[in-house]
Amino acid sequence: MVLYFSATGNSKFIANIIAQKTDDKAENLLRRIRSGDYSPIRSDKPFVIVCPVYVVDLPIFFMDYLRKQEFEGNRDVYFVFTSGGGYSGASGSHAKSIFDKKGMNFMGFKDLKMPNNYVVNDHYADLDKPEIKNRIRNCLHEAVMTADIIRSGGRLRGRHITLIEKTLIPVCSAWWTKHKYPVKDFYTTDACTGCGKCARVCPLNNISIKDGRPVWDKPCTHCMGCICNCPNEAIEYGTITQVKEKYNINKYVRKYI
Ligand SMILES: Cc1cc2nc3c(=O)[nH]c(=O)nc-3n(C[C@H](O)[C@H](O)[C@H](O)COP(=O)(O)O)c2cc1C
Repeated sequence: MVLYFSATGNSKFIANIIAQKTDDKAENLLRRIRSGDYSPIRSDKPFVIVCPVYVVDLPIFFMDYLRKQEFEGNRDVYFVFTSGGGYSGASGSHAKSIFDKKGMNFMGFKDLKMPNNYVVNDHYADLDKPEIKNRIRNCLHEAVMTADIIRSGGRLRGRHITLIEKTLIPVCSAWWTKHKYPVKDFYTTDACTGCGKCARVCPLNNISIKDGRPVWDKPCTHCMGCICNCPNEAIEYGTITQVKEKYNINKYVRKYI
């Protein structure tokens, strides 16, 4: 079974390709994460987990979820990380340690360089459209090759993660997660209809609709789900997003989404 979390569609796209090419099914973990549902997930085929990289590591809320989630049936687990730089930092080592503790077989990981969705971070410039399409096309091919390896029971040969990465990154990532995800700059424009989609896609159940408008609370993980899934593009973040495209893969592809 292919399981995924995806805020802006990159990981969902990859999960759906792998599911189709391995004759398996893909399941979105959003509902489980939001509701704290850790009831066992059963699969006779290997588990494949696809997720984004946040601050060169697994998203902290996703690690917490995986630690609590029970898995039954097949004991093999593969990871596929989507990121804007193709570098997943300590993600592979965290994933391995979580599944080693469950007594499952960590079968390796694959890094895929997808378009960067971190639109509220002004350190990242907009990618131009040909580059976005190019990355998606390359990753489609890599996902098909990854699926071939998984179907044949092989291992994914992820990059070697050094001791420095294993020790330093978790400290930086935890600090960043605690201090660098403010919500005060999110606001809506007059285009907001109060449809509530932003609240429904928030993995942390952090958005409520009050007087027909979203209100952001803590904790926020800056996943970009709210701002990049708004059907009216009515959410902004300070002045940064007024001049940036709100990324969502469904603007670029129709298949596997
Ligand atoms: C909060 C946040 C942190 C991110 N940190 C990194 C990072 O450290 N390295 C990187 O290459 N990409 C980073 N990204 C980009 C995403 O990993 C990438 O765009 C991913 O494919 C998004 O997946 P999704 O569309 O399935 O949500 C970050 C994105 C967000 C929202």
